[in-house]
Amino acid sequence: MKIVHAASELFPYVKTGGLADAVASLAGAQAARGHEVAIFVPGYRGVVDHPDAAEAEIILRPRIEMGDVFMSGEIRRFSPREGVTVYLVCRDEFFDRRNPYGTGERDYEDNHHRFIFFCKGVVETMRLQRVNADAVHCHDWQTGLLPLLLRHAEQRHGDILAMRTVFTIHNLAFQGVFPMRSFYRTNLPDELMGIDGVEFYGQMSMMKSGILFADRVTTVSPTYAREIQTPEFGCGLEGVVAARAEDLQGLLNGVDRAIWNPAKDALLPATYTVDNLKGKWTCREELLRRHGFDPDFGGPIFGMVCRLTSQKGVDLVLANREFFKRENVRLIALGRGDPELEKGLRELAAALPKRVALCDKLDETMSHLVTAGSDFFVMPSRFEPCGLSQMYSQIYGTIPIVTRVGGLADTVVDFDEDPKHGTGIQVPVTPEGLLCGLERALRLHRNVKKLVEIQLRGMRRRFGWDETVDALETLYAD
Ligand code: ADP
Ligand code: GLC
Repeated sequence: MKIVHAASELFPYVKTGGLADAVASLAGAQAARGHEVAIFVPGYRGVVDHPDAAEAEIILRPRIEMGDVFMSGEIRRFSPREGVTVYLVCRDEFFDRRNPYGTGERDYEDNHHRFIFFCKGVVETMRLQRVNADAVHCHDWQTGLLPLLLRHAEQRHGDILAMRTVFTIHNLAFQGVFPMRSFYRTNLPDELMGIDGVEFYGQMSMMKSGILFADRVTTVSPTYAREIQTPEFGCGLEGVVAARAEDLQGLLNGVDRAIWNPAKDALLPATYTVDNLKGKWTCREELLRRHGFDPDFGGPIFGMVCRLTSQKGVDLVLANREFFKRENVRLIALGRGDPELEKGLRELAAALPKRVALCDKLDETMSHLVTAGSDFFVMPSRFEPCGLSQMYSQIYGTIPIVTRVGGLADTVVDFDEDPKHGTGIQVPVTPEGLLCGLERALRLHRNVKKLVEIQLRGMRRRFGWDETVDALETLYAD
């Protein structure tokens, strides 16, 4: 099949979270099945400057209709591996920036124009290059207008660009809602400005557009697919999601074993396998050393790697300050994000310098080291569409402590509830709930035999893409 993905992030070129990993590894898994896969991403500075893109050829200089003006763009193309082609939709005014969405403090003010332009760049390239796709697979709000724009272009030019469109919700909390006055930039018919169109409380919602107008809708875990039809998790779009319930499927993300595999991980100081965990100790020592702790420390290490947002339950960790003060443990957090949460963790580290460390950077190498070198991985999310980190941690023999939501509920088995299959600890979404989980971890850490048994069980889990790729083939085809 010819499969076209469109996304705003793609590992290893641009990544702020799991979207980048999920799109890259899904595309890789599809290419490995023999499909012809193209991935469109905005030509951000970091992507254009990446060594892989150095060889990119300029294949097109389209003029993109943006309301009453035409804007020029440039489409570059390269192939990072067999079966995969990456298309960069470039326009320096929009994408020659350091960060994909904003300055950290604030989103860019022209994000609606940037992503309308991106979607139109995809459509124009498909049309002019005659990329007749079996499926166009759109990811998150940045590509939410693409299904509509594709169908509109087909009507206008009398071409068929895609047999199917699929829209995947990676995170319903980010919706791409903008003033309705920017709708004219889409050149879509005015009737779409209403409640049965892209309108959401008087504004234009790109997420709503994707959910309503794609042929099929997926999200990244079965539990999240159910949750987002309820007011608690639907972020106001639960009615819209429920209206597509017949066409909605929750398909779990998988793990790219070429990148996340403790037996081959080039980013670690040592590798290890289920047959020999020695390398995990080397990682542990290095992790402790890198954060200014005694490398011989033998007690439990709690690791965290996440965007610092309320989604990730960072406040639940902060509420357990007393635990980290009382117990001789280490907490090593890697993350950036909400200034308040960053400040909270920084203060905790300053108050307990012998116990807690914060690394407030985006650091791919450090994310592998924390995942490998810790004993427990703390991820008490309030909601979690899928979550990749808890899968990575299990594969690395680091026992996840997670809440029972979304993909966390679908990928972690509590070892007390199911002693034969348990790979982690599940906790309620409260400070007290997390405390119980941290205390269970302490007790487990004293029982080395059981600890290793659970670690090894996690390391043996596959978290592959097969089932999801199968299910998508069916979605693309019928
Ligand atoms: P989300 O997509 O909601 O952020 P996921 O668990 O799906 O959550 O994916 C998070 C990804 O981002 C993981 O690959 C994780 O290692 C990575 N990550 C998060 N914060 C950082 C950071 N500060 N440095 C490096 N990688 C990070
Ligand atoms: C989002 C979600 C995360 C998911 C990732 C990839 O960023 O927050 O749960 O794993 O997308 O699908």
